[in-house]
Amino acid sequence: MTARFALFGHPVAHSLSPRIHAAFARQTGVAMDYHLIDATPDDFSAALADFAHAGGVGGNVTVPHKAAAFALCAATSTRAQRAGAVNTLVRRDDGWFGDNTDGIGLVRDLTTRHRHDLRERRTLLLGAGGAAAGIAPALLDAGIGELTIVNRNRARADALAAMLAQPQRVRSRDWRDLETLGHFDLIINATSAARCDAPLDLPMSIASRHTLAVDLGYAQAAVNFLAFARAAHCQHTVDGLGMLVEQAAAAFELWHRLRPQTEPVYAMLRRELPLRATD
Ligand code: ATR
Repeated sequence: MTARFALFGHPVAHSLSPRIHAAFARQTGVAMDYHLIDATPDDFSAALADFAHAGGVGGNVTVPHKAAAFALCAATSTRAQRAGAVNTLVRRDDGWFGDNTDGIGLVRDLTTRHRHDLRERRTLLLGAGGAAAGIAPALLDAGIGELTIVNRNRARADALAAMLAQPQRVRSRDWRDLETLGHFDLIINATSAARCDAPLDLPMSIASRHTLAVDLGYAQAAVNFLAFARAAHCQHTVDGLGMLVEQAAAAFELWHRLRPQTEPVYAMLRRELPLRATD
Protein backbone atom coordinates (compact mmCIF):
# COMPACT_ATOMS: atom_id res chain seq x y z
CA MET A 1 0.00 0.00 0.00
CA THR A 2 1.25 3.52 -0.78
CA ALA A 3 2.42 5.31 2.38
CA ARG A 4 -0.15 7.83 3.56
CA PHE A 5 0.66 11.40 4.56
CA ALA A 6 -1.61 14.37 5.20
CA LEU A 7 -1.63 18.06 5.96
CA PHE A 8 -3.91 19.13 8.82
CA GLY A 9 -5.16 22.71 8.91
CA HIS A 10 -8.20 24.93 8.94
CA PRO A 11 -8.75 26.19 6.30
CA VAL A 12 -6.41 24.13 4.18
CA ALA A 13 -8.00 23.80 0.73
CA HIS A 14 -5.64 26.23 -1.03
CA SER A 15 -2.42 24.80 0.36
CA LEU A 16 0.48 24.30 -2.06
CA SER A 17 1.91 21.48 0.08
CA PRO A 18 0.34 18.57 -1.89
CA ARG A 19 1.95 19.87 -5.09
CA ILE A 20 5.28 20.42 -3.37
CA HIS A 21 5.37 16.90 -1.95
CA ALA A 22 4.14 15.38 -5.21
CA ALA A 23 7.04 17.09 -6.98
CA PHE A 24 9.55 15.87 -4.37
CA ALA A 25 8.13 12.33 -4.65
CA ARG A 26 8.49 12.33 -8.45
CA GLN A 27 12.04 13.60 -8.18
CA THR A 28 13.15 10.98 -5.68
CA GLY A 29 11.04 8.05 -6.91
CA VAL A 30 9.16 7.75 -3.61
CA ALA A 31 5.55 6.48 -3.67
CA MET A 32 3.46 8.56 -1.31
CA ASP A 33 -0.11 9.69 -0.96
CA TYR A 34 -0.39 13.21 0.54
CA HIS A 35 -3.81 14.67 1.04
CA LEU A 36 -5.47 17.52 2.88
CA ILE A 37 -7.47 17.13 6.09
CA ASP A 38 -9.50 20.17 7.08
CA ALA A 39 -10.25 19.86 10.80
CA THR A 40 -11.59 22.51 13.15
CA PRO A 41 -9.73 22.97 16.44
CA ASP A 42 -12.42 20.90 18.18
CA ASP A 43 -11.98 18.06 15.68
CA PHE A 44 -8.22 18.04 15.27
CA SER A 45 -7.38 15.47 17.93
CA ALA A 46 -9.97 12.98 16.62
CA ALA A 47 -8.92 13.61 13.01
CA LEU A 48 -5.30 12.85 13.88
CA ALA A 49 -6.28 9.66 15.73
CA ASP A 50 -8.46 8.55 12.79
CA PHE A 51 -5.59 9.19 10.40
CA ALA A 52 -3.27 7.01 12.53
CA HIS A 53 -5.87 4.21 12.63
CA ALA A 54 -6.22 4.40 8.87
CA GLY A 55 -2.48 3.79 8.52
CA GLY A 56 -1.19 7.37 8.25
CA VAL A 57 2.59 7.39 8.73
CA GLY A 58 3.41 11.09 8.59
CA GLY A 59 1.95 14.53 8.32
CA ASN A 60 2.27 18.25 8.31
CA VAL A 61 0.39 20.60 10.57
CA THR A 62 -0.48 24.18 9.78
CA VAL A 63 -2.58 26.99 11.24
CA PRO A 64 -4.26 26.73 13.72
CA HIS A 65 -3.12 23.30 14.98
CA LYS A 66 0.63 23.56 15.56
CA ALA A 67 0.45 24.02 19.34
CA ALA A 68 -2.27 21.37 19.66
CA ALA A 69 -0.14 18.94 17.65
CA PHE A 70 2.76 19.58 20.00
CA ALA A 71 0.55 18.65 22.96
CA LEU A 72 -0.67 15.44 21.26
CA CYS A 73 2.77 14.04 20.39
CA ALA A 74 4.29 11.17 22.37
CA ALA A 75 7.74 12.65 21.76
CA THR A 76 9.08 15.84 20.21
CA SER A 77 12.37 17.17 18.87
CA THR A 78 14.34 19.89 20.62
CA ARG A 79 13.36 22.24 17.78
CA ALA A 80 9.68 21.59 18.42
CA GLN A 81 10.14 22.02 22.16
CA ARG A 82 11.84 25.38 21.69
CA ALA A 83 9.00 26.52 19.44
CA GLY A 84 6.23 24.93 21.52
CA ALA A 85 4.76 23.92 18.17
CA VAL A 86 4.89 21.04 15.71
CA ASN A 87 4.61 21.27 11.91
CA THR A 88 5.85 17.79 11.03
CA LEU A 89 4.63 14.44 12.35
CA VAL A 90 6.23 11.02 12.06
CA ARG A 91 4.35 7.89 13.19
CA ARG A 92 6.31 5.73 15.60
CA ASP A 93 5.35 2.65 17.62
CA ASP A 94 4.67 4.75 20.73
CA GLY A 95 2.62 7.42 18.92
CA TRP A 96 3.43 10.58 16.99
CA PHE A 97 6.89 12.11 16.99
CA GLY A 98 6.70 15.85 16.37
CA ASP A 99 9.30 18.14 14.83
CA ASN A 100 9.29 21.74 13.65
CA THR A 101 10.95 22.53 10.31
CA ASP A 102 9.62 26.10 9.92
CA GLY A 103 12.65 27.82 11.41
CA ILE A 104 15.23 25.84 9.47
CA GLY A 105 13.09 26.35 6.36
CA LEU A 106 13.17 30.12 6.77
CA VAL A 107 16.89 30.22 7.49
CA ARG A 108 17.72 28.00 4.49
CA ASP A 109 15.60 30.17 2.23
CA LEU A 110 17.22 33.41 3.38
CA THR A 111 20.81 32.17 3.52
CA THR A 112 21.03 29.53 0.78
CA ARG A 113 18.50 30.68 -1.80
CA HIS A 114 18.64 34.45 -1.31
CA ARG A 115 22.25 34.50 -0.06
CA HIS A 116 21.72 36.85 2.86
CA ASP A 117 24.15 36.74 5.75
CA LEU A 118 22.02 36.88 8.91
CA ARG A 119 24.87 37.14 11.36
CA GLU A 120 24.77 40.11 13.73
CA ARG A 121 21.67 41.53 12.07
CA ARG A 122 19.66 43.75 14.38
CA THR A 123 16.32 42.00 14.02
CA LEU A 124 12.70 42.99 14.56
CA LEU A 125 10.12 40.24 14.88
CA LEU A 126 6.55 41.46 14.39
CA GLY A 127 4.10 39.16 16.15
CA ALA A 128 4.40 36.69 19.01
CA GLY A 129 2.00 33.92 18.03
CA GLY A 130 2.69 30.42 16.76
CA ALA A 131 4.44 31.54 13.57
CA ALA A 132 6.82 33.83 15.46
CA ALA A 133 7.60 31.13 18.03
CA GLY A 134 8.29 28.65 15.23
CA ILE A 135 11.06 30.69 13.62
CA ALA A 136 12.66 32.66 16.45
CA PRO A 137 14.93 29.88 17.78
CA ALA A 138 16.33 29.14 14.33
CA LEU A 139 17.06 32.84 13.74
CA LEU A 140 19.00 32.98 17.00
CA ASP A 141 20.89 29.82 16.02
CA ALA A 142 21.70 31.43 12.66
CA GLY A 143 23.60 34.14 14.53
CA ILE A 144 21.38 37.20 14.28
CA GLY A 145 22.27 40.06 16.60
CA GLU A 146 19.82 41.63 19.01
CA LEU A 147 16.24 40.38 18.58
CA THR A 148 13.37 42.73 19.42
CA ILE A 149 9.92 41.16 19.60
CA VAL A 150 6.96 43.50 19.20
CA ASN A 151 3.37 42.46 19.54
CA ARG A 152 0.07 44.29 19.96
CA ASN A 153 -0.58 42.21 23.03
CA ARG A 154 2.64 42.91 24.93
CA ALA A 155 2.20 39.99 27.32
CA ARG A 156 2.60 37.52 24.44
CA ALA A 157 5.82 39.24 23.32
CA ASP A 158 7.12 39.03 26.90
CA ALA A 159 6.21 35.34 27.05
CA LEU A 160 7.98 34.54 23.78
CA ALA A 161 11.06 36.48 24.85
CA ALA A 162 11.10 34.57 28.15
CA MET A 163 10.70 31.24 26.36
CA LEU A 164 13.72 31.99 24.16
CA ALA A 165 15.77 32.36 27.36
CA GLN A 166 18.52 34.59 25.97
CA PRO A 167 17.96 37.83 27.90
CA GLN A 168 21.18 39.43 26.60
CA ARG A 169 20.04 39.11 23.00
CA VAL A 170 16.23 39.07 23.13
CA ARG A 171 13.94 41.84 24.33
CA SER A 172 10.26 42.64 23.95
CA ARG A 173 8.73 46.05 23.34
CA ASP A 174 5.29 47.61 22.95
CA TRP A 175 3.93 48.11 19.45
CA ARG A 176 3.56 51.81 20.18
CA ASP A 177 7.31 52.01 20.91
CA LEU A 178 8.18 51.07 17.32
CA GLU A 179 8.74 54.70 16.39
CA THR A 180 11.45 55.04 19.01
CA LEU A 181 13.47 51.93 18.19
CA GLY A 182 15.42 53.15 15.15
CA HIS A 183 15.89 51.01 12.07
CA PHE A 184 16.55 47.30 11.84
CA ASP A 185 18.73 45.19 9.54
CA LEU A 186 16.14 42.44 9.35
CA ILE A 187 12.37 42.74 9.85
CA ILE A 188 10.16 39.66 9.86
CA ASN A 189 6.41 39.91 9.64
CA ALA A 190 5.09 36.91 11.58
CA THR A 191 1.68 38.41 12.29
CA SER A 192 -1.56 37.07 10.90
CA ALA A 193 -2.71 40.59 9.99
CA ALA A 194 -3.16 39.69 6.31
CA ARG A 195 -5.16 36.57 7.19
CA CYS A 196 -7.37 38.67 9.46
CA ASP A 197 -7.64 41.40 6.83
CA ALA A 198 -6.42 43.97 9.37
CA PRO A 199 -3.74 46.47 8.31
CA LEU A 200 -0.38 46.56 10.08
CA ASP A 201 0.36 49.93 11.60
CA LEU A 202 4.11 50.43 11.05
CA PRO A 203 6.29 53.56 11.11
CA MET A 204 8.71 54.02 8.18
CA SER A 205 11.52 54.66 10.67
CA ILE A 206 11.95 50.92 11.40
CA ALA A 207 13.41 50.30 7.92
CA SER A 208 16.26 51.65 5.81
CA ARG A 209 17.61 50.90 2.33
CA HIS A 210 19.69 48.07 3.76
CA THR A 211 16.91 46.38 5.66
CA LEU A 212 15.95 42.88 4.62
CA ALA A 213 12.16 42.70 4.94
CA VAL A 214 10.63 39.23 5.15
CA ASP A 215 6.99 38.21 5.21
CA LEU A 216 6.29 34.64 6.29
CA GLY A 217 3.23 34.65 4.05
CA TYR A 218 3.16 34.49 0.26
CA ALA A 219 0.93 35.64 -2.57
CA GLN A 220 -1.84 37.98 -1.43
CA ALA A 221 -0.90 37.50 2.23
CA ALA A 222 2.48 39.17 1.70
CA VAL A 223 1.35 42.09 -0.45
CA ASN A 224 0.69 44.73 2.21
CA PHE A 225 3.81 44.24 4.31
CA LEU A 226 6.13 44.04 1.32
CA ALA A 227 4.50 47.15 -0.15
CA PHE A 228 5.26 48.90 3.14
CA ALA A 229 8.87 47.68 2.91
CA ARG A 230 9.30 49.01 -0.61
CA ALA A 231 7.71 52.33 0.38
CA ALA A 232 10.30 52.48 3.18
CA HIS A 233 13.01 51.96 0.49
CA CYS A 234 14.08 48.45 1.55
CA GLN A 235 16.12 47.03 -1.30
CA HIS A 236 15.66 43.45 -0.22
CA THR A 237 12.28 41.84 0.29
CA VAL A 238 11.46 38.16 0.56
CA ASP A 239 8.07 36.49 0.84
CA GLY A 240 7.32 33.13 2.44
CA LEU A 241 7.22 30.93 -0.66
CA GLY A 242 10.81 29.76 -0.35
CA MET A 243 10.34 29.03 3.34
CA LEU A 244 7.27 26.96 2.48
CA VAL A 245 9.26 24.85 0.03
CA GLU A 246 12.24 24.50 2.40
CA GLN A 247 10.18 23.48 5.44
CA ALA A 248 8.48 20.89 3.23
CA ALA A 249 11.84 19.57 2.06
CA ALA A 250 13.03 19.21 5.64
CA ALA A 251 9.83 17.30 6.48
CA PHE A 252 10.23 15.10 3.40
CA GLU A 253 13.78 14.30 4.46
CA LEU A 254 12.59 13.34 7.91
CA TRP A 255 10.00 10.95 6.48
CA HIS A 256 12.01 9.38 3.65
CA ARG A 257 15.66 10.00 4.54
CA LEU A 258 16.06 11.58 1.11
CA ARG A 259 16.82 15.24 0.47
CA PRO A 260 14.81 16.55 -2.49
CA GLN A 261 15.99 19.38 -4.72
CA THR A 262 14.04 22.45 -3.77
CA GLU A 263 15.06 24.87 -6.52
CA PRO A 264 12.99 23.40 -9.39
CA VAL A 265 9.92 23.24 -7.17
CA TYR A 266 10.43 26.79 -5.94
CA ALA A 267 10.91 28.01 -9.52
CA MET A 268 7.74 26.25 -10.70
CA LEU A 269 5.62 27.83 -7.97
CA ARG A 270 7.28 31.23 -8.28
CA ARG A 271 6.35 31.40 -11.94
CA GLU A 272 2.71 31.07 -10.96
CA LEU A 273 2.67 33.66 -8.20
CA PRO A 274 2.40 37.38 -8.90
CA LEU A 275 4.78 38.54 -6.20
CA ARG A 276 8.54 38.38 -6.65
CA ALA A 277 11.16 38.46 -3.96
CA THR A 278 13.78 41.12 -4.65
CA ASP A 279 17.18 39.98 -3.57
P1 ATR B 1 -0.02 32.25 14.00
O1 ATR B 1 -0.02 30.81 14.35
O2 ATR B 1 -0.21 32.53 12.54
O3 ATR B 1 1.15 32.98 14.56
P2 ATR B 1 -1.57 33.37 16.15
O4 ATR B 1 -0.88 32.49 17.15
O5 ATR B 1 -3.06 33.60 16.26
O6 ATR B 1 -1.36 32.86 14.67
O7 ATR B 1 -0.83 34.77 16.19
C1 ATR B 1 -1.21 35.84 15.37
C2 ATR B 1 -0.23 36.98 15.57
O8 ATR B 1 -0.54 38.04 14.66
C3 ATR B 1 -0.29 37.58 16.95
O9 ATR B 1 1.02 38.01 17.30
C4 ATR B 1 -1.22 38.78 16.74
O10 ATR B 1 -1.08 39.80 17.70
P3 ATR B 1 -1.91 39.77 19.09
O11 ATR B 1 -1.26 38.67 19.92
O12 ATR B 1 -1.70 41.09 19.67
O13 ATR B 1 -3.32 39.45 18.71
C5 ATR B 1 -0.73 39.24 15.41
N1 ATR B 1 -1.68 40.11 14.67
C6 ATR B 1 -2.81 39.75 14.04
N2 ATR B 1 -3.38 40.82 13.43
C7 ATR B 1 -2.59 41.88 13.67
C8 ATR B 1 -2.62 43.29 13.30
N3 ATR B 1 -3.58 43.79 12.54
N4 ATR B 1 -1.63 44.08 13.75
C9 ATR B 1 -0.64 43.58 14.51
N5 ATR B 1 -0.55 42.28 14.89
C10 ATR B 1 -1.50 41.44 14.47
